[in-house]
Amino acid sequence: MTTSHNDASATMDLVRQRLAEAHHVCILTGAGVSAESGIATFRDPDGIWARFSPQELASMDGFMSNPDRVRDWYAHRKAIAETAQPNAGHRALAALQDVVPECTIVTQNVDRLHQRAGSRRVLEVHGNLIENRCNDCSKIRTDDEIMCPDCGGLMRPNVVWFGENLPADVFQAAEEACRRCDVLLVVGTSAEVYPAASLPYVALRAGATVVEVNPNQTSLTPHATMAIHGTSADVLPQLVPESV
Ligand code: OAD
Repeated sequence: MTTSHNDASATMDLVRQRLAEAHHVCILTGAGVSAESGIATFRDPDGIWARFSPQELASMDGFMSNPDRVRDWYAHRKAIAETAQPNAGHRALAALQDVVPECTIVTQNVDRLHQRAGSRRVLEVHGNLIENRCNDCSKIRTDDEIMCPDCGGLMRPNVVWFGENLPADVFQAAEEACRRCDVLLVVGTSAEVYPAASLPYVALRAGATVVEVNPNQTSLTPHATMAIHGTSADVLPQLVPESV
């Protein structure tokens, strides 16, 4: 099936209208939102998990078997994120919060680019690259200490690894936002990693309009209310004209 130019432009019009009418807009973002800032995604053909082992670098077993290797890799990713700049997609989402009464960003991204673009209410369901957390007492620090100065435990990146639970309070807030929103934009995620991938279905069950923005099909595409095939830095400024 192909989508004609007219169909695509009617979809864009309808999404703009739903955004203008919405009281609460929620946005679920994934690595694709930062692709145009030069940060690699995970599951695209040249993605991070095609080049690095998640068992070695994103699991507690991998960390315990070689903490230095894991710390070095996250320090490298943190340097990439700090050098990168927010793109037009991040900026459009930041502008959206000024035109809708309530706006919540739920991000799987750990790069802090939404916040640097000016977004205020950002729920980081997979943690972030800036902080480290004590493995024993859970104290969060932003320095490079290897051992926790409070309890002597091992400091680790404050990023959720495979097999670990998401921060419960943050994920509850994300579910609540998806239950209460009028429109959920799902941008730049393969929608493969649970429980974050369950959030669009929470919104759909609660009656929200769910709009996917992604250049590729995902398992969510057939279930979304509408799908816009394009990149976030191209599509989002067209949905939020106030941002350009
Ligand atoms: P993935 O790498 O799984 O998916 C990236 C998605 O972005 C794909 O569907 C691409 O089609 C899409 N994409 C690529 N370029 C894009 C662009 N310019 N604009 C819009 N979309 C684009 O990344 P996530 O779904 O974020 O977990 O992955 C989820 C989690 O898996 C990540 O948070 C990470 C990873 O393991 C942790 O680090 C805990």
